[in-house]
Amino acid sequence: MSVVDQIKLPVREEMVLFEQKFKEAMKSEVALLDKITHYIIKRKGKQLRPLFVFLAAKMHGKISEGTYLAASLIELLHTATLVHDDVVDDAAERRGFLSINALWKNKIAVLVGDYLLSRGLLITTENNRIDLLRIVSKAVKSMSEGELLQMEKARNLDITEEVYFKIIEQKTASLVSACCGTGACSVGVDDKMVESMEEIGKYVGIAFQIKDDIFDYGFSDKIGKPTGIDLKERKLTLPLIHVLNKIDRSSKKMIINTIKKEKQDPQKIKEIIDLVIQQGGIEYAENQMYNYRDKALGLLKKVPDSPAKSSFELLIDYSIKRVK
Ligand code: IPE
Ligand code: IPE
Ligand code: MG
Ligand code: MG
Repeated sequence: MSVVDQIKLPVREEMVLFEQKFKEAMKSEVALLDKITHYIIKRKGKQLRPLFVFLAAKMHGKISEGTYLAASLIELLHTATLVHDDVVDDAAERRGFLSINALWKNKIAVLVGDYLLSRGLLITTENNRIDLLRIVSKAVKSMSEGELLQMEKARNLDITEEVYFKIIEQKTASLVSACCGTGACSVGVDDKMVESMEEIGKYVGIAFQIKDDIFDYGFSDKIGKPTGIDLKERKLTLPLIHVLNKIDRSSKKMIINTIKKEKQDPQKIKEIIDLVIQQGGIEYAENQMYNYRDKALGLLKKVPDSPAKSSFELLIDYSIKRVK
């Protein structure tokens, strides 16, 4: 049995039912939209966020309609942000296939992202779950802020480690936080526990994005999206930020200049990547990633033991050990 299948065990049936509901939630009468949402569903991702929702729920009680709703809402939003993100990052590949912007152009991708977002809002309000929406809306706001802060820093190439952590907390961890918060909320725990679960999700999400940023330094064909594109987009991530902090001023200047002027030259990008690896940038990022995983696991100790909790722990670990 694969690790993911093992993690899913306590919520296996729920995940199957979820997929049906998720498909249903994406449907549209507009032929072009329906075609594109079909394309998206056929090339689904790892669906780790719904898994976080279900396990966070089952750890605290009995999975309810609200749990399914939260999982659908979050996966819709996640899908919407990926469709938009590929426009912003000018990425032609997603989940091993052509991205929506590559196939249908940017204009259409922007509108499809908006459609998915609105579907999420609608299913939630139709079911009067303003409590779930409140948790997720915080994340949506943070995600836009995080992506914009990232752009500002890409423009000036002056990102610090502190700002890096702020960006990844906003653009990625906020949604994982919402997974854990809504999951717990959907089975009726008190506000304090919801907050505590949100905090756990935040730490997992930070570790998750560090892993993603490390992927960008590799060459694996399993990931299903382009690598080496962060530098091309002037996105400086933790491995490089760390190396820039430890090398001398003139070397630092040289790297920044290369990114400014020669980022389209694959050979130059490769030189920077090699330097980052050689200077221990990846190792440093990995250590930070382990720290955040451990923070999440530490906070989880408060929750009573159960099969769902054991799976949740495995899922936290999988978030940083995954190969795609
Ligand atoms: C990709 O998320 C976006 C990030 C926050 C790094 P996932 O790696 O969960 O993407 P899918 O849904 O499995 O494709
Ligand atoms: C993920 O950042 C941020 C999102 C909220 C979509 P990336 O730009 O690194 O994500 P990938 O690598 O394209 O999935
Ligand atoms: Mg991207
Ligand atoms: Mg990335």
